[in-house]
Amino acid sequence: MTASLPSIERWGSLSGKRILVRVDFNTPVAEIDGTLVVTDDFRIRSTVPLFEDLLAKGATVVACTHFGRPKGKVVAQYSVEPVRRRLGELCAGVELLENLRFNPGEEANDPAFGAQLIAGFDYYINEAFSASHRAHASIMIPPTLVPSAAGPNLQREVETLRSLLDSPARPFVAIVGGAKVSDKLGVVRVLAEKADTVIVGGGMAYTFEASVGRTIGSSLFDRSHLDECAKLLATGNVLIPVDSRGLVAGVPFGAEGGDDPVAQFGENIPDGFEGLDIGARSVDAFKAAISKAATILWNGPMGVFEDPRFGDGTEAVARAVAGSGAVSVVGGGDSVAALKDYGLEDAFSFVSTGGGASLELVELGDLPGLKALRESAFN
Ligand code: 3PG
Repeated sequence: MTASLPSIERWGSLSGKRILVRVDFNTPVAEIDGTLVVTDDFRIRSTVPLFEDLLAKGATVVACTHFGRPKGKVVAQYSVEPVRRRLGELCAGVELLENLRFNPGEEANDPAFGAQLIAGFDYYINEAFSASHRAHASIMIPPTLVPSAAGPNLQREVETLRSLLDSPARPFVAIVGGAKVSDKLGVVRVLAEKADTVIVGGGMAYTFEASVGRTIGSSLFDRSHLDECAKLLATGNVLIPVDSRGLVAGVPFGAEGGDDPVAQFGENIPDGFEGLDIGARSVDAFKAAISKAATILWNGPMGVFEDPRFGDGTEAVARAVAGSGAVSVVGGGDSVAALKDYGLEDAFSFVSTGGGASLELVELGDLPGLKALRESAFN
């Protein structure tokens, strides 16, 4: 894991200094009465203490963020305006620049764009843990040009994950879910070594199930990862579902739901059906492992929880973690959204703002944005 990151404390007086803060305000928005409004301000709220601290010390604070994926073009729908409004309600006195990704230089990690961004500033703070796996200009270039530091939330995110992986109270149980096995296999590989048990659920579990010869009907499946899944199961540390619930293949599911009858399956799913959630026996097996844990890391839902018919597994696992008494860390937009649905946000020890970033930190032990801060010539 990474060495320590430069912090703001070593800068001394900030009075009269201009500070650029890279944040991640890539938040969900929805149109209400013809206006786009932020529907989840967690990422914005979590930076307010830093802004207030800097302003109280007499600094001028300018924040910058990406917002969606406009691919280097100015796209009205991706203007930061709704975020700017919400920020203004939560904290006065901080300017927010327009979407960094309106400029193709951002994602291209163009030094000229990075230099233009930081021109006129005395200091740079990276407070965007959830974007620090992206080697983009606003993350990589400022630390080469001005004294730079990790913001308090970024520090906390990294320290939490680091101590969890380096010296967890045991038993350490990791829970990994989500749809795509290709996104999470590297993480399962690392966790199978570091944790005592890795629980695998969600769409990705069906490739694991197929790797031991079970039939999975039309469930999500990735043949290219079959051997790797079999190897991971052979470690004896990976626990997969023993039953599931789903639908006749091809019938609609998702947030809109539907009224097609839910089918229950045992270990095997017959042809013509699709698994969409773990079943009751899997919930019991997972709960038994969770109840013994002293440390829990959770990333990814157990099923298509946004469809009310297939949220039981995710909710049961969330409630089991919340009630376990273990140190619990959750990351990933979907898992965090699920916790909010169940009103369990405060029942976890730490809710990470970063999905992709926390997975990459677990898998690779470092992130480009952290490396840029550590290697700054101004340290
Ligand atoms: C996120 O929301 O996970 C981060 O803001 C990263 O966004 P990106 O996947 O578009 O880079």
